[in-house]
Amino acid sequence: MSEPTRRADTEPDATRPRTSTRDPEILRRALRSWLRARTGVEGLDISDVEIPQSNGMSSETLLFDARSPRGQSTGAEPEIQRCVVRLAPAADAMPIFPEYRMRDQFEVMALVGARTAVPVPRTLWYEADPAVLGAEFFVMERVEGQVPPDILPYTFGDNWLARAGAADRRRLQESTVATLARIHALPATAEELAFLGDLSADGDTALRAHVDGWRAYYTWAHGERPIPVLEKMFGWLDTHWPAAVDAPVLSWGDARIGNILYRDFTPAAVLDWEMAGIAPREADLGWLVFLHRFFQDIAEFFGLPGLPGFLAFADVAAHYAALTGYRPRDLEFYEAYAALRQGVVMGRVNQRRVRFGEQEAPADPDGLVNHAATLEHMLDGSHWG
Ligand SMILES: Nc1ncnc2c1ncn2[C@@H]1O[C@H](COP(=O)(O)OP(=O)(O)O)[C@@H](O)[C@H]1O
Ligand SMILES: [Mg+2]
Repeated sequence: MSEPTRRADTEPDATRPRTSTRDPEILRRALRSWLRARTGVEGLDISDVEIPQSNGMSSETLLFDARSPRGQSTGAEPEIQRCVVRLAPAADAMPIFPEYRMRDQFEVMALVGARTAVPVPRTLWYEADPAVLGAEFFVMERVEGQVPPDILPYTFGDNWLARAGAADRRRLQESTVATLARIHALPATAEELAFLGDLSADGDTALRAHVDGWRAYYTWAHGERPIPVLEKMFGWLDTHWPAAVDAPVLSWGDARIGNILYRDFTPAAVLDWEMAGIAPREADLGWLVFLHRFFQDIAEFFGLPGLPGFLAFADVAAHYAALTGYRPRDLEFYEAYAALRQGVVMGRVNQRRVRFGEQEAPADPDGLVNHAATLEHMLDGSHWG
């Protein structure tokens, strides 16, 4: 699963799981001998290992270049592979999610990369043995591009996306929706995707399984200290359940612009597949829209204009319909569902901050959810006017 967005009012690293007590030189040597064994290239060397300025916080990301001496005898340049390591967090660092399914992430990326025009980083190697780097990991190719920042949020103004003109932002919005449409059209059988869920289930059953998965995550994260506003939202989902649900598709999961590397306002790499699953199309669309709304609300809270009109659900749904012929429905339900999921994750992130002394435990457990007020407005209907 995946990937909380971080609070705007904290230092960049304050909320990030800090498992990197690892010495970079030790890391470099461990990676180098592993990669020599894995590739069979004895003289292979690797650069210093860097930790990127990064969005998200659920897994650890490391960057390095592998340099293979191949071609030396012929005088050719050494081959260089720019690499990114995605590493599961250490179990003792109070991870945000109960499991990280690195192998599933690796496989779904490989499948999408092989069968669609969606740009995903080429997957290189997967390692199950935690002895190598301290946790399960995989390596993918490093792609150049720009990510809309979480810190400070892109809605705060001083960044490439906010400085862009409305036409470029529109281009980014539409190319992002087109990317979701392509992910949802992955040609794969139910058997091939069985590791993520049941693609052959009818829409209603698939949606129920998805919501049940999130309820189980809620119980794992908050069962001992319930968060009333989230429990009310689960109840709201039951009473506002869609009458008709279309057949499920591959769902990217953490479908937000902060998980895409863009070049020229068009996706160059779709990252972060840890929340991938099987769900109705609207699950990703709702997440795309709500995660923007979340950052827009933070900007407005600080008296900033943000990016009004960007990623409005009606526009996103209309563009999706124009591209696919499928008209997304029950948008309020799926926006509420995204807000609830984000609440479960943020509740865990903030609980973790309390545990590490970065924040005081709020007297009211709803205080663990940054956007509790938005959820209340969804519950009383005023969110949608
Ligand atoms: N394949 C890649 N190529 C280039 N940069 C990457 C790649 N994968 C991750 N990154 C960098 O690491 C950051 C975090 O990656 P992401 O997959 O979103 O992980 P997290 O689970 O921590 O959110 C990205 O915002 C990007 O800057
Ligand atoms: Mg991310």
